[in-house]
Amino acid sequence: MLTALVTGGAGFIGANFILLARKNDWLNIINLDKLTYASNLENLAELRGDRNYNFVQGDISNIELVSYLLNQYKPDVIINFAAESHVDRSIFSPQVFIQTNVVGTFNLLEASRFYWQKLSPQKQQNFRFLHISTDEVYGSLQADAAAFKEDTPYTPNSPYASSKAAADHFVRAYYHTYKLPTLTTNCSNNYGMRQFPEKLIPLTILNALDGKYLPIYGDGQNIRDWLYVIDHCEAIYLVLQQGKIGETYNIGGMNEQTNLAVVNKICGILDELVPKPNFSYSSLINFVPDRPGHDRRYAIDCSKIKHDLGWQPKENFDSGLRKTVQWYLDNSAWVNQVSTGAYQNWLKQNYENRK
Ligand code: NAD
Ligand code: TYD
Repeated sequence: MLTALVTGGAGFIGANFILLARKNDWLNIINLDKLTYASNLENLAELRGDRNYNFVQGDISNIELVSYLLNQYKPDVIINFAAESHVDRSIFSPQVFIQTNVVGTFNLLEASRFYWQKLSPQKQQNFRFLHISTDEVYGSLQADAAAFKEDTPYTPNSPYASSKAAADHFVRAYYHTYKLPTLTTNCSNNYGMRQFPEKLIPLTILNALDGKYLPIYGDGQNIRDWLYVIDHCEAIYLVLQQGKIGETYNIGGMNEQTNLAVVNKICGILDELVPKPNFSYSSLINFVPDRPGHDRRYAIDCSKIKHDLGWQPKENFDSGLRKTVQWYLDNSAWVNQVSTGAYQNWLKQNYENRK
């Protein structure tokens, strides 16, 4: 079994990936995570006692720590999930996005390069640096424009998207300049269990259950291409195994939805699962002032990964969303744990002036 250094594995997608990888015995894993507000070690509680899983608290920007871990654990592959990931937070406080997403990825690349150069020729050949990125680097699509392909020019619009774009460029440069065997995936909006409730879908579920208003930015007609997190994790493993070195792969759900449609669907599911007499959760919908620079539409053309690697999403949006809502209903301890004072402060900062 290969050994992977996974960064950011206590967050939403990283934790789902690690759980899937351990369940299927895909990889022996060392998880390096700084444990920011977005992380939750409870995500990985079921791995306690698993000899093929180790956790290290630390920052990907700390090149000495990363170098130490590489020499200590001698991973065959690195999968970089670690990032600041929320667009609204990047608008309030962009600096930490530069620090983690750009400087952090750069330091991780540097440490990887020095480690990789000292490996045996066989290990060097098999080594992979897989960088997880986003469709937001491609900017915003017009309603009738073709979906993003791997060669769509980068036109990032938010501080978050710009920081991810910069990181992607460094990954590309390390392949072209040093021949470090890199892979990059650019995926669309993920949804599913264990997502921190600052993002649209979990925020809507938890606000609705609390009887709080459901904030929809602008006219609610912005479009995202929703991808079930487990489909995404399977795609990542496939790219790791079979992806062509130096290439990028777009991963999408083939599932474009307006934000208003997503929120209405969640309300419909809650009306069924947690009915209240003479009340629909959709009555909590509230249109609020827009996010500055709000991208209108994202859509991924994932024909490359479909044709080259044989991947395609398995989950359909209605059943995936239902499973997601049910997970939040079944995991009130997890929800209580993330609903801290810091989270309440964030809600105040982001929504108070939008009422
Ligand atoms: P998340 O915010 O839920 O988790 C990020 C994790 O990274 C957290 O556990 C956090 O503690 C850790 N982290 C942050 N800074 C770190 C640092 N300096 N060093 C080490 N660990 C650090 O994010 P997510 O939604 O799981 O996203 C994972 C990756 O996927 C990110 O790179 C993100 O840009 C990308 N992505 C996410 C989505 C999505 O819809 N969630 C879509 C496209 C791409
Ligand atoms: P989000 O989950 O923050 O992901 P991203 O900005 O990375 O796409 O937001 C998804 C969409 O939902 C985006 O168009 C912004 C919108 N949105 C709202 O309308 N209200 C909200 O409270 C939030 C958090 C997002």
